[in-house]
This record gives sequence, structure tokens and C-alpha cells, in this order.
Amino acid sequence: MKITIIGTGYVGLVCGACLADLGNDVLCLDLDQSKINALRAGRIPIFEPGLEGLVQRNATAGRLRFTTDVEESVRHGVVQFIAVGTPPDEDGAADIRHVLSAARSIGRHMQEYKLVVDKSTVPVGTADRVKAVIDAELKIRNAALPFSVVSNPEFLKEGAAVEDFMKPDRIIIGSDDERATQMMRSLYAPLQRNHERTLVMDPRSAELTKYAANAMLATRISFMNELANLAEMVGADIEHVRHGIGSDPRIGYDFLYAGCGYGGSCFPKDVKALQSTATDAGMPLRILKSVEEANEAQKYRLVEKVVARLGERLDGRHFGIWGLAFKPNTDDLREAPSVVIIRELLQRGATVRVYDPVAMNEARKIFGHTPAVAFADTHLAAVESADGLLIVTEWKEFRSPDFPNIKQRLKHPIIFDGRNLYDPERVAAAGLEYFSIGRPVVKAVDRSHIHDHIESLSDLS
Ligand SMILES: NC(=O)c1ccc[n+]([C@@H]2O[C@H](COP(=O)([O-])OP(=O)(O)OC[C@H]3O[C@@H](n4cnc5c(N)ncnc54)[C@H](O)[C@@H]3O)[C@@H](O)[C@H]2O)c1
Repeated sequence: MKITIIGTGYVGLVCGACLADLGNDVLCLDLDQSKINALRAGRIPIFEPGLEGLVQRNATAGRLRFTTDVEESVRHGVVQFIAVGTPPDEDGAADIRHVLSAARSIGRHMQEYKLVVDKSTVPVGTADRVKAVIDAELKIRNAALPFSVVSNPEFLKEGAAVEDFMKPDRIIIGSDDERATQMMRSLYAPLQRNHERTLVMDPRSAELTKYAANAMLATRISFMNELANLAEMVGADIEHVRHGIGSDPRIGYDFLYAGCGYGGSCFPKDVKALQSTATDAGMPLRILKSVEEANEAQKYRLVEKVVARLGERLDGRHFGIWGLAFKPNTDDLREAPSVVIIRELLQRGATVRVYDPVAMNEARKIFGHTPAVAFADTHLAAVESADGLLIVTEWKEFRSPDFPNIKQRLKHPIIFDGRNLYDPERVAAAGLEYFSIGRPVVKAVDRSHIHDHIESLSDLS
């Protein structure tokens, strides 16, 4: 099939590359000339495992091309995927300006039937608005051309996006048009040879499903974060509680990790946008208001622990930070808790040295001109002479660190772990103070008396 992808960001580029890999002829449009130039030169603007090879392979095969030419892009695909950004406006509602602008271009330039697919995360009713915009453009041109609009929300996770697209749990098609439904089914047929994963429903339900999924996941995280804070107050351990409830199949283990808050380009904005939809519909979602408030507060939790241990003012203090991306396997810093944490430390007078396996370039865009922020080449360099180490993203390479080496490098052997990566007893046994989320604090084992004892024995010999 000839496919156009409008918007070549995280979602558009992954969809485009994956659909090309299935044998389709894909043209990706973006208005950002530098992004398209980079892609044409074989450079991938984002970090996403497996994506670079996929893009290069399909570009070389001629199945994946990139353009900034709107007319060409409308001409190319019988299927026109809209995958542009839908950022929050000042009230938190999703701003669908880019979606409607893409629809306008389609209406303005189409010469034959088009299947328009809303892949962006968009508020309920957007498919109708896209239809109305295209209709209006056709009317201006006095052109009676057929087209369909369907909703096909995307559920890929950054960090596992290619895998998620190629092996989806479900494919949601919001359509009330049989021709469009059949085309969507055949487009996705190669992804469901093992079993049928398509759920066809009306467009409004499809649009709401996407928000409901993200809001549910965000709710689980905020629920666990609040429980973790309670666990600290009552002397319980949130990790035991997590296992205790996760073993109930009605609850399950996923998305039950306590931490220093969720971030990223989706959960925060989608939780806000769904609240806005609900308020407009006269049916406010009280739960989501609390989910958001709990998450905002949780981003400060780690700094609260620093303050409780070292004092309100942190002038002259210096901290190592491990992990900047909002989650592992991505370089995405949008709404990342790390940014809030670093700003709060700086605000209190501290300086920091940061390290992330892939997000350093993105971090330089935010903190590159901030003298109080230094950038380390390795995770160990980040802790050198620091008054403490803060762990903000649960990258695999942080999971089994060399604790004695860390202890030696730190000025004060303290770890503030926002992702509960370690066994508190083990860290304490290595002589480090360890503060994590929702777990009892275990005192560092003081080994100096053992050294004294060994030295006194050697004096005797
Ligand atoms: N990032 C994710 O993990 C994810 C997952 C599922 C759904 N979504 C949703 O998908 C949509 C896109 O998200 P993203 O993260 O890919 O955004 P992004 O910001 O990475 O990419 C959007 C791209 O669209 C381009 N663009 C804007 N207007 C355009 C226009 N009129 N014509 C052509 N290009 C245009 C921008 O230049 C940008 O490159 C959003 O609605 C988002 O909520 C994102």
C-alpha cells in the first residue's frame, strides 16, 4: 500500500519505518526541514532501540522516503496517517491545531479517495472535526471527492517502540465506515498472523480508549507512590506490599513500582487532557485530579529526603545524578522528574554532575548553559567528591554498581535512590547510607572498628 505519514516524530517515524518494513511504500512528511535533512542523510533524530537499522534498511530499499513537500505527501498515500504532536494548551486540553492543519492540507490537495487515519492521541470528537475540515476544504474547491476518517490510536512505548509496533497487544480501529475498516484490517494483517488483535469500535470509543489506557497506568503509579509514602510513615516496606498485591491476578505486577514520579510526553499531558474533556462534558474526573497532584508532589520526594538528611539550604553541596531520561531506553526528557529534581537542588544552592547513558545531548539542550550543572562521561565520574548520589532513572547499567568504588569516590557516602534499585541491607553492608522510596532506612555498617581490629592484630605480629 502507498502510505503517507504526516509528522515524523517518535510515533510517525516508528510507524513509517515499521510499515515500510512490512513491504509498504511509505513517505514521511515533516515541516521541520532539519529533521528531514537528517533522516535523508541516514541520521535518526531520536534514540530508540532497533530504529536506526530499520530506517536505514528500508530507506536503502526505497520503501521509506522523507519529504517536507505537503502536496507530494498528499498525492502519495491512499492512506494518510496523521501522527503530529498534540501538546497541552494553557488549560491542559489537547491542542489539536496540528492535526487540523494536516487535515486541511489533505482536503486542499487530494485528487482521489483518501483514508485519513488519526494516529495522534486526540480528544473525543476529533475524527468528526477532521472530517468537517476536509469537507470544508473540498467545498471551497467545489470538489466532490470521497474520503474516510478513522481513529487508530497508538500504544507503543518509547524504549520498546519498534517491538510494540510489530507485536501489538491490540490494534484499535475506530471506524464507522466499512471500506475504511477493511483497508485498515488488510494494512495490519501481517502483524496478526498468530492471532487476531484488532478491535473495531466507533471512533469516539477508540479516542477515549487511548486516554483511558494512559490514565489507568498513571493512576496505578500515583497510587503506589502515595502508598510508598504511607509505608515510610508506618514502618512498612512498599516492595513487600508490591509483591503482596501484584500476586493477585486481578491486580498484576505491572506499573506498581513506587518511584519519584512519572514523566514523558504522554502520561502528564494525557491525564490533563482527559480531565479537560471530562470537565467540558460536565463530568469531572476527581480521581485524575488527585493522580496528577500526587505525581507533581512525588517529583520532589527525593529532594525532600536530601533536605531531611542534609538541611534546607544546600549551598556548597554537590551531588551526582544518575539518570536523566524520563525512563530507561530513551533519550526523551519531556516532563522528566530529573529536570524538576535538578532545578530544585540548584534552587537550594547545590551544584550537580549528571550522567545518563543516552540522554546527555538532550540534557545539554536544557542545562548546557547552567554553570551549576556539569556533565560526566561515566556514571562513576558523576559521583566524584559528591555529597551524595541521586538515582532518578532505572537504567540497567545502574543495577549492579561497584558499591565500594562509589563509596570511595563520594565525599559523603549517601545514596538517594528514586527507583528502589538496590537491596537496602546490601548497600548498608557496603558502608553507604541509603534512602529509597517507601522502604525502611537501614543504617550503614560502620567498618572502621574492623579495620582498627585488623591493624591492632598486625601491630601484634
Ligand atoms: N511518544 C510516544 O511514546 C507516543 C505514544 C503513543 C501516542 N503518542 C501520540 O502521538 C502523537 C505524536 O507524538 P510524538 O511523540 O511522535 O510527537 P513528536 O513531537 O515527536 O513529533 C511530532 C512531529 O510532527 C511534526 N509536525 C507538526 N505539525 C505538522 C504538520 N502539520 N505537518 C507535518 N508535520 C508536522 C513536528 O515537526 C514533529 O516532528 C501525539 O499525539 C502523542 O500523544 C505518542
